[in-house]
Order: sequence, then C-alpha cells, then structure tokens
Amino acid sequence: MTKLHKVYHCTNCGASSGKWAGRCPECREWNTIEETVNNFVSGGEVSGYAGVMAKIRPMAEVEVDHVQRLSTGLKEFDRVLGGGLVPGSVVLVGGDPGVGKSTALLQVCCNFKQIKAIYVTGEESLQQIAMRARRLGLPDKDVLLMADTLVENICAAALQEKPQVMVIDSIQTMRLADLATAPGSVNQVRETTAYLTRFAKSTGIAIFLVGHVTKSGGLAGPRVLEHIIDVVCYLEGGNDSRFRIMRAIKNRYGAVNELGVFAMTETGLREISNPSAIFLSRLPETMAGSAVMVIWEGSRPLLVEIQALVDTSYADQPRRLSVGLETNRLTMLLAVLHRHGNIASYNKDIFVNVVGGVKVVETGADLPLLLAIISSINDKPLANDLVIFGEIGLAGEIRPVSNGQERLREALKHGFKRAIVPQANVPKNGVPGMHIDGVRKLSEVLEIIG
Ligand code: TYD
Ligand code: MG
Repeated sequence: MTKLHKVYHCTNCGASSGKWAGRCPECREWNTIEETVNNFVSGGEVSGYAGVMAKIRPMAEVEVDHVQRLSTGLKEFDRVLGGGLVPGSVVLVGGDPGVGKSTALLQVCCNFKQIKAIYVTGEESLQQIAMRARRLGLPDKDVLLMADTLVENICAAALQEKPQVMVIDSIQTMRLADLATAPGSVNQVRETTAYLTRFAKSTGIAIFLVGHVTKSGGLAGPRVLEHIIDVVCYLEGGNDSRFRIMRAIKNRYGAVNELGVFAMTETGLREISNPSAIFLSRLPETMAGSAVMVIWEGSRPLLVEIQALVDTSYADQPRRLSVGLETNRLTMLLAVLHRHGNIASYNKDIFVNVVGGVKVVETGADLPLLLAIISSINDKPLANDLVIFGEIGLAGEIRPVSNGQERLREALKHGFKRAIVPQANVPKNGVPGMHIDGVRKLSEVLEIIG
C-alpha cells in the first residue's frame, strides 16, 4: 500500500521539517509553517509511484550557447551583474527607500541603445517618471512606460510589445488577479515573483525587480525569493553620502560580493572606476588610530581605511561601537589582544569605523583593526605608506587570506611602500618596490610597530 508523506515547509525561509510547529526553527518567524503533501512512496516501494519518466541526458551532450550579455551602459553595474545582463534572467535590486533604485533603473532603460525596454511602475505616475527623466537630462526617446500592478496584464502587454528588458518597480506593489492577499504580503510577493520568473525564462525577456528593504535590513518578502531569482543585489549608501555601493549577494552568472561604486549626481548615477581613490581620501599628515587595508570584493581589491578611537571609560560597562564591521568580531579580537598581546581594554570605550560607508565582511580586516586600536591607545600613528591585512585566530596566530599578491599590487599602485601581512601571503619573490613584513603571530606584529 502506498503511504503519502506529510511534510511541512516554512513559507518564509523554505526550511522543511517532519512536524508542524508554531514557529519556524530556522528563521524564527511565527505562523509560517504550512503542510504540503509529498507524493513520495515510503518503504522503497517504487513500483507504486505513478509518474512520467523524466529525461536523463549525459552532460557532455548538453550544448552551451554563448550568451550575448546586454550592457546597462554603466560599467560598474555590468560588473556587479557579472559582465552585463543575461537575457531571460531575473535581477532583484534591493535597497532602502530613497537610495536611488528607481532612478538607477530608469537610467539603465534610457541608456539602452537598440534594446527595447519597458519600465513598469506601481508606485509613481507616468508624469512623475517622465519628469524625473527630463530633470536628470536622460535620453528618453525610446523608453516605454507602463503604470499597472496586475502582473497578468503587464505580461500580456509585454508579450505584445516584445521588449528585451522589463523593469518592475516594485515587486511589493504587484499582484496576481486570483490571489486574494494584499500586495506586499509574503504570499503575494512570492507568487508574483514566481510568475514573472517563469515569464522571463519562457520569453527570454530580462527582468529587473525593485525590492524594498525592511528595517532589519532584509528584503521585504519571503527569503525564498532569493532562491527563485538569478541575481540579488543591494544598492547601499548613507543619507549623507553621495556615494552609492551596489553589491551582488547572489549571482548565478558571476562572482558574489562583486561591488560597484557610483556617485549620485544631478544627471543620475555616475560610475566611479577607481573606488580605492575615494575611500582613501586621507589627510596628508598621519593620524593615530587609522590603518589602511586591502579588502577583496568579488573579483577585485579595494583599499579602505579603518579608524579606531579608544577612550577611557567611565561607565560600568565600556562601550563598543562599530560601523562597517561586526561588533562580535571586535569583542573577540579585543580578547585576543589582551591574552596574546597583553593590552587590556576592559576600562576603555572603543569606537571603530570603516571610512566611506563600506561594509567589511571578511576576516582580512582583523589585523588592520587591531593595529588601528593599538595606534589609538598609544596615540602613535602608523606609517602613512603602510598597508595591512590578515586574519587573526584565537590563539593569536595570523592566518593568510585569499588573493594576497593581488592585494599587495593594488596597494603598491596607490603608493603604499610597506606592508604587514600574514607570512603565508608574502609572495616568494616579494613585490618590487615594496617592503613586506610577513608575520605569524600577534607578538611579532607588536614588535614590528614597536
Ligand atoms: P529614487 O530613485 O526615487 O529612490 P528609490 O527608488 O530607491 O526609493 O531616488 C531618490 C531621489 O534621489 C530622487 O528624487 C532622485 C534623486 N537622485 C538624483 O538626483 N541623482 C541620482 O543619481 C540618483 C540615483 C537619485
Ligand atoms: Mg522608487
């Protein structure tokens, strides 16, 4: 006898489990577990399964067409996409309200030459869009606009018009006709995205989806969205900064964590092809509490400055504040500094900041962070032409990071003549024109900086 398996799925994160629960054990959301019946036969009784045999093919016989990628007209955007927009792909552009998502995608549509694009808006009127394009002085002759929120209607119109690219601004305003829930709800966002994705795959139309971000920084809508679409990127930037950073956190067609840097101007986004130069705009004199590091973002190195301020604490609990770096990591590194460097910080407030609004997620920032802190404690600046990177382990050992040689070359290109890096990252033949100190332990680093 065949027995149907009951399985339970979380509608928020997609996690599956064998039993129902009020709260998802994975993503901790309430009321998101739903029952789904799995047509799978238990007990290995495969003959009882009535399915049409799926087709199996040897991998060697699968032909791979060379895809012609479309250029967005912004090289930095193309870089984030992995070298341009792939036909039939679905790209989600997330970000805080007002960061410039609509403007950026409108600009991309206007930039296209001999590529037909439709810009669909569910948030603004056509007049508002046209006014913005004129204010920014964008070439708007060929762009088609549509103001609708019903996905079936939008796709029907797109089938007729046959564009190569379609922008949906935003996915939270879209709905399907026979889905009763409100636009923006988890169900609605998931189903409209799935519908649009099927449409993109079957027609070859590339679709940009604009997505809003919740207060906690995640995309508003289910996490499962990220599994359906091909590319997920975020547009980031502080309110007071005119720089915008676009970062791919998932990309089926290119490197993840690829970073594009733009400046916001009166004529729209302008790409910054040498971002190290802007993140490093330092005063010519050296300052205590500042260290320069090379981070590896996607497929290129980037020089950034880390600043630390250490002050005597008068509170019961000293303050630890970190902007652009993880606070937990900071706490851990301070413990390593105490145990293996004999420098205590229990009675000190520590503030850390990555200049330029960059978020550093890699462990290569450990060593420069500690050196910035030590420099602030001693009120003694590090050399102006010194660059640092390296991971620190709990035993005080300095561990290598990826792409050491490329990082050193990038630093040399920007005039850095000295480096403190993990021993294993020192190139065999050195780097001509650069003095490199390879280190294995924290104690060796402290000796070098004296
Ligand atoms: P907008 O694209 O509306 O943000 P979002 O869609 O992410 O909510 O951009 C906000 C404002 O910024 C808008 O009034 C246009 C302006 N802006 C510029 O003037 N120049 C630029 O380069 C960008 C990106 C935006
Ligand atoms: Mg918008």
